[in-house]
Amino acid sequence: MVVSRLLLSIFFYNYCFILAVSSEPNRSNLSRLSPGLSTVEGPGVDGKRQPLPMEYFYVQLMNEGGEKFKGAIDESLLTIDFISSPESRVFVNKKIHYLREGLFAVRYRLHREVASLSISVKYNNQHIGDSPYTIGKALVDKCFCPERTVKQWLKDFKCPSSYRQVDDSLALYKSKGIKLSQLPVRLANEFSNTHGIHYSIVNNKLYGKTFGTITDFRAMSDMILTSMLNKAQLPDMEFIVQVSDWPQDKNDPKKEPFPFFSCCGSEYYRDIVWPQYDLMRHTVQAMDRVELDMMWLQQGLSLPWSERIPKAFFRGRDSNKVRLDFVSKYRKKTDLFNVTLD
Ligand SMILES: *[C@@H]1O[C@H](CO)[C@@H](O)[C@H](O)[C@H]1NC(C)=O
Ligand SMILES: *[C@@H]1O[C@H](CO)[C@@H](O)[C@H](O)[C@H]1NC(C)=O
Ligand SMILES: *[C@@H]1O[C@H](CO)[C@@H](O)[C@H](O)[C@H]1NC(C)=O
Repeated sequence: MVVSRLLLSIFFYNYCFILAVSSEPNRSNLSRLSPGLSTVEGPGVDGKRQPLPMEYFYVQLMNEGGEKFKGAIDESLLTIDFISSPESRVFVNKKIHYLREGLFAVRYRLHREVASLSISVKYNNQHIGDSPYTIGKALVDKCFCPERTVKQWLKDFKCPSSYRQVDDSLALYKSKGIKLSQLPVRLANEFSNTHGIHYSIVNNKLYGKTFGTITDFRAMSDMILTSMLNKAQLPDMEFIVQVSDWPQDKNDPKKEPFPFFSCCGSEYYRDIVWPQYDLMRHTVQAMDRVELDMMWLQQGLSLPWSERIPKAFFRGRDSNKVRLDFVSKYRKKTDLFNVTLD
């Protein structure tokens, strides 16, 4: 009797033990990478890939417990191969950046069209996610292939259906419209110190007339507009871009608004904000003439918030008084700010 009671209690202990273990996460499988559970996502591996100047996708390595892989990672074991069929050399630049917790950003730029492209994504020689990815015909950004309508273009590139900021800026003109023919006259009378470009798009060709003297930034807007015209049939249109690094159309309700496209704005101005010239250049020339683009900068984000210094920082030229005032006011407050002009 004693023996069987002992057995019974051992049995119960074991049972409890097993229950306790199975309700705990199984730690032993968290340190093992799972190629099947790992994911590859982004426009660069999309079967309906559209020609962007620079393509990109993300690789997230997962462990066998289905969590982001947090163990030590040998970054050199992630290999990306571009395969052309029929087999031929693929002219491509690629960059792999390790971001954090098993997450990689992969960027590439195709230099020549490929009739049928597939991309293999491997870690330690094992395919990751659904690799290899079949892309099919892969065009390059420079291809003058404006087959799409604007509507199709927005759909193909998965653009959001609206942008609140743009809608808000344009709302001002919704009821009154824009008196296009008056703009050149108003430009000469009211904004004689402003620099910029009066653009026209006619039959998918870009025309531009500069005003003012400092119009170097035109190169960037020409670049991005040309890249867009290569991809879609844009409607005929005219618009005016001003290229100083300060908005121009003061928010004065007594004055008729002037629809400037600008790289900056504020609540005191009515300029329609569109991408800043460096962003345009980075978008078109990343991995070509531009090395330090926005995606490259993401690498710096690998530091967890808990390890970051709780300070705001600023670096920039002394291009206007607001900057000088800001820096002289906060330069000494080193507990919260790290600001200098350079
Ligand atoms: C890893 O462990 C967890 C917890 O025990 C389990 O639910 C999961 O199925 C395991 N995964 C694999 C791939 O063995
Ligand atoms: C933990 O996971 C490993 C591998 O996934 C498995 O061999 C082992 O049996 C699991 N242990 C338990 C207690 O589930
Ligand atoms: C400000 O930042 C720079 C660059 O990281 C650093 O070298 C410098 O020590 C910082 N200054 C202060 C006061 O924290």
